[in-house]
Amino acid sequence: MNELFDLTPDRRGSGSYKWDTAREGQDIIPLWVADMDFKAAPVIMDALRARVEHGVFGYTYVPDEYYRAVEHWYSRRYGVALGPDVRPIYTQGVVPAISATIKALTRPGDGVAVMTPVYNCFFSSIRNNGCMMVDVPLVRVDGSDDFTYEIDFELLEARLSDERVPVLLMCNPHNPACRAWRREELQRVYDLCRHTGTTLLSDEIHGDIIMPGYSFTPVASLDGNPLAHTVTFSSPSKAFNIAGLQIANIITSSPRLRYLIDRAINDNEVCDVNPFGVAALIAAYNHGSEWLDSLTGYIHDNYRYLVKAVAHRMPRLKVARLEATYLAWLDVSSIDMPDEELEEYLKEHYRVWLNAGSMYGRGGFLRVNLATSRRRLAEGLDRMFDGLTALSKR
Ligand SMILES: Cc1ncc(COP(=O)(O)O)c(C=O)c1O
Repeated sequence: MNELFDLTPDRRGSGSYKWDTAREGQDIIPLWVADMDFKAAPVIMDALRARVEHGVFGYTYVPDEYYRAVEHWYSRRYGVALGPDVRPIYTQGVVPAISATIKALTRPGDGVAVMTPVYNCFFSSIRNNGCMMVDVPLVRVDGSDDFTYEIDFELLEARLSDERVPVLLMCNPHNPACRAWRREELQRVYDLCRHTGTTLLSDEIHGDIIMPGYSFTPVASLDGNPLAHTVTFSSPSKAFNIAGLQIANIITSSPRLRYLIDRAINDNEVCDVNPFGVAALIAAYNHGSEWLDSLTGYIHDNYRYLVKAVAHRMPRLKVARLEATYLAWLDVSSIDMPDEELEEYLKEHYRVWLNAGSMYGRGGFLRVNLATSRRRLAEGLDRMFDGLTALSKR
């Protein structure tokens, strides 16, 4: 199936946030925003075509088939039985889901614990609900030729023991730390949350993008009846590249949490979804496994390409070990320029766009979106290396 991923369409002029916000006429290679340059899986395209052919696009009723598709996905792929009490609460995206859940479970002034570096919208969702971010920075662990991150459990316990911190918002798997958290790590986090009376919120949007040799542990699969005490956010939008169709699910079996979240979803007016998101989710979850497995293989090859290219062209940079997501994390702290300036410099002078690490709460890094054709990735990385090499010679 590699040819499906080698042949990426030209996205310029398609209303793409990633491509069309670059300076006009500048031929910038965008390796920033987290969507993929690949066409959706053929099964999704067929489902959408059929829906378009119907020709009527009124308000959407979400059918039983939708809930069954989510249930099957979780049981077939991850061995998690959601059961009849756990009907997902659908909404327009994971960020709206996070925001409404924070609103539901906190009061202004409360603390929300997060582990930085982390997805930037965590910060805005916390801020927009009048809460304070309580950081539990991840600990960097260096290997001989890469690095990774671990949870500081001592600090986590201290932070969660504070009664002004009612929730912990986790990214599982973690963007941009590239971690597919191990079952033991997640169990320890969950047990700590139970012990301290903290509600664990798990953003699992990247759960389906797992590199060979690693596995995804949904929080719902832990010991200790997690469905009744946690909230999971999930969506096919990252793995199947349908973010523009705006569909996501909130999963918990707790009647109290469901009630509060449902109310907040309605207060925030994000309780309606569109017919294309529904059709695409059903197709993806019922028939998308094979395509997804090929995709993750392709992403992993792109990651290996990046690692080799760094070793060859700039060995003093370091690449975080990629266990999950299609977002690589590159340590550029040896370059003598703050990463936000670096982002602008590379965009302006070398026509490649990467995200500065500061956006995620950690300066000295660049985030590289690997979800594009190998050819385009190679060209983008060449531009990046040219820019960084020129800086080193100054
Ligand atoms: C961890 C994480 N959560 C949520 C989102 C966005 O979710 P949505 O587009 O469904 O609001 C992203 C996008 O990159 C992400 O990385």
